[in-house]
Parts: sequence; structure tokens; C-alpha cells
Amino acid sequence: MPPLLDDQRHAASESPAADLLVVGSGAAGLVAALSAASRGASVMLLTASELTSGSSPRAQGGVAVAIGPDDGPRQHAADTLAVGAGLNDRSAVDTLTRDGIVAVQALWRAGMPFDGEPGIPELGLEAGHRTHRILHAGGGATGAALVKTLLSHVIDHPRITVRVHARVSDLLIEDGRVRGARAGACVYPAHAVLLATGGYAALWQRTTNASESRGDGLAIAYRAGAAVADLEFVQFHPTALLLPGRPSFLLSEALRGEGARVVDEQEHPVVNPLLPRDQLARALASYRRERGSVFLSLRHLDAGHVRRRFSSLDQQLQDWGLDLARDLLPIAPAAHYCMGGIRTDVDGRTSVAGLYAAGEAACTGVQGANRLASNSLLECLVFGQRAASCALADRPQAAGWEVGPLPVSLSHQWNASVGTVASSTLAALLDSHLGIERDAQGLHELVTSLPNPDDPTTPNDVLVAALAARAALLRQESRGAHYRSDAPYTCDCWRGRIHWRREEAPQFERVEP
Ligand code: SIN
Repeated sequence: MPPLLDDQRHAASESPAADLLVVGSGAAGLVAALSAASRGASVMLLTASELTSGSSPRAQGGVAVAIGPDDGPRQHAADTLAVGAGLNDRSAVDTLTRDGIVAVQALWRAGMPFDGEPGIPELGLEAGHRTHRILHAGGGATGAALVKTLLSHVIDHPRITVRVHARVSDLLIEDGRVRGARAGACVYPAHAVLLATGGYAALWQRTTNASESRGDGLAIAYRAGAAVADLEFVQFHPTALLLPGRPSFLLSEALRGEGARVVDEQEHPVVNPLLPRDQLARALASYRRERGSVFLSLRHLDAGHVRRRFSSLDQQLQDWGLDLARDLLPIAPAAHYCMGGIRTDVDGRTSVAGLYAAGEAACTGVQGANRLASNSLLECLVFGQRAASCALADRPQAAGWEVGPLPVSLSHQWNASVGTVASSTLAALLDSHLGIERDAQGLHELVTSLPNPDDPTTPNDVLVAALAARAALLRQESRGAHYRSDAPYTCDCWRGRIHWRREEAPQFERVEP
């Protein structure tokens, strides 16, 4: 096992340049590190906290993959596109659904303990999937099992060096190319850097994410000149536990796939529990606002089966005095997943030479305006590996995206405030103005209360929030996870992606049907 040195004890001058510097130890980072190391590359893996921190280990539901008897990549792609509301990158979706099968088989061979009989994994159902195609593990603890499996190979790997408590603050750029990163007092030189730092859903007060998911990688990449895209699309998970004094613990969509109902206090069904996430989250938010509390109920199901199938959820709820199979579980939506991120092509290339991104930190466009349930771990497996291969091949040219003006005249003059914002204030602002429903007035207030993202003194979380608020203000329609109460319809003129680079005006890129 290689030493897991604390950042502070690591002298920069001792470091030879790694072939690949991976930032982040979630599913995408671990896959990228293993993939590069298995090709003979030297890998430096940095993580801001502990190896098992971050949001990947919190993923419950599973890994969507088209291996069922009546299933195939084309059906999986069609479901991904239907939920993605017209903004998915088609080639990324085809890559995900096709290469996902091979990636999952490799994970299985690597020892991933999927639930089911030996050699015959169980396939669960989740919203938006036309068939059972969700592999799961650990009784509702798929992310934790996946990270554990990958880590068991990373820790033993002679070509992977790990540094914990190494929070990257900026990238080193020489001659227009990224050549390493700085974390604390240390400099980590590398031939290529791959950011796998997760999303920014922990910026909101109610979140299913780990506290680290505050958009650090996105902010660092943006400052280095990389394009970022689709930041207005933040998915709110409809069913997070709502208990005073407890975290907004995820109650997996897989529970609804097994038959859990969404009910009111009298146990009357409130809404179809298998609506796509954006629709269900909006329906529950409006029910709670106008009528009262909502609950998840599994009382009508066989208690023994529920406790077996979701053993780890059952255990966690017992610790909080709740019975998963017998109690009405109070729920409310919570910020869960960011479709937007650092803009990349399907090989993880960003618009800055030497810089790659994968997983939730990246935005290939695979998830469109709304992610299909359980496509995120699959994204990490497929694109983590592709980004690592591409980084090693070290193609210096940036992708040549076609961009054009915004579809309506929106030459905004931003009146940003100055100074910074405390994280609790930021969370309250985002809850009020950039939640499940937004409107021009609230977004305008938000934009003007946050500092300029291009000011070098703006902290990472505020920078990300300011960009997301601007993107949401610009998009004057409702699509996928972005719902504007003052523009509640989807408009074909907005069928495209908004992306940005530092000190440049926002760009609009049409997505053809
Ligand atoms: C869940 O288990 O509901 C979350 C899985 C996902 O976000 O895809």
C-alpha cells in the first residue's frame, strides 16, 4: 500500500512530473487513475479530504446498464434522451449506453459485489426507464460498494500515489498548457491534469451531497480559461428525508421502483411516484407549499423483502428511530446533481490544453437538461476511463466547437455586488432564487447580490453560484430541471446550450434534434 501522505508533509521539490494528475477520489477519479496506471502511466491522485469523502459513496440507487434480456443500448439511449429534454449530446449518449456495458463488466470482474445470485445480478427499476436495468449493491449502498471496490485496486497499485487533504487551489499553466496543480504549499507537476471533483449541489441548504461538492474543480477550470456549460440545470431529488436536525438523507428512487408510494398524512396517494425526477420534484414542492406534508410509504409492501432489499437504508433509518418498512417517511426535494460543469468533448478534453474533466465535474452534454436516474455512476465509469486515455495520448489541440449568438437579444449588463458572501447566506439565496422554480425577478436579485465571477478574489463557491444564476436568468424558458415560473414553456429557440469562458460573453450553441 503506498503511503497516504498529508499534503503538508509533502515537499514539492521532490515530485517528478506525473504522467497524469487526477484531482478527486470519487468514482470518476478512481476509474481514471486505474485506467491510466493500467496503461503504464504514473498517476498522482489528490483528494481534498479523505479518500472516501465526496458524493460518490452516497449514491444509493445504482448503475443503469442495458444488459437485461429485452434491453439494449438503443433503448437505454432513447430513455436518456427522453428525460434529457432535447439538450443531450447524441454522441455522448451513444457512447455512454454502448460502452457502459463493457465498463460494468470490467467493474464486475474487478470484484464489485452487485446484489443478486452469483453471476446473475438483480435489475431494479427507476423512473424514466422503460425496463428493469439498474444494477445495485449493498442493499441500497451502490456508490459505497463501488468506491470500495475501486479503492481496493488503487491502494495496491504501484504506479498510483495518493495524497489526502490536498485541496487544489489552482492550476499551473505554461505556454497555454496545464502542467500541474497547486494544493496548499505544494506543487504537483504533471503532463496532464484531470479534474474529477464532483458537482456543486452542496451549495444549496437542502442537499443530498457531501459537503465537499461545492464546485471547486469548476471554479479552478474557469479561472484557468476553460469553458463551462449548462450551469442552470441542477437536479433536485424528489425524495430526501425531512427530519428536524437530520441531514437531507437520500431516500433512493429505487424504493419507488420497488413500489413505494408518495402519500399525504391520511396515506392517500399524492402523485405518480415514477414521474421523471424534475416533474416529481416540482409536484412535491408545490403540494408542500399549497397543501401540506408528503411522505414515502412502503407499508403496503412485504416488510421482510423491503428490509432485505434495502438493508443499508433500513439500518440508517433505524439509527434515527424510523422503520423503513412500517413508518410514513417525511420527504421533501433536495439539490442532488448538476447536469452542467466543465465543458468537455466525449474524450474528456476541455477547452484548455492539458486539462481534462470527467464525472459530475464535467459536462459532455450526456445528461442533457435533466439526468435519467442511475446514469451518473455509469457516466463516471465510461468517461473517467475515456478522459484518462485521452489525457495520456496528450492531444494538445482544443476542440473546435461551433458557437453563435444567444437566440434573443440578451446583452446583459451585470450589476454585480462587491465582496464575498458567507456560505449560509449563499445557500439561503440559492434556495430562494435558484431552487426548483425560478423567475426573472429573483434571479436578477441573486445575480446582483453576488460578486463578479471574473474577479480573481471571488471565492470558488460564489463564482459557481454567480455563473449558475446568470445562466438561469439568460434561459427564458422552462426545460428539464430548469423551471421558470415566468416562462413555463419549452421554446425551440432555446434548444441549445449556454456556455462561458472567463472574461467572455456567454455563448449559445444550438443542439439539433
Ligand atoms: C437514487 O438512488 O435515487 C439516486 C440515484 C441517482 O441519482 O441516479
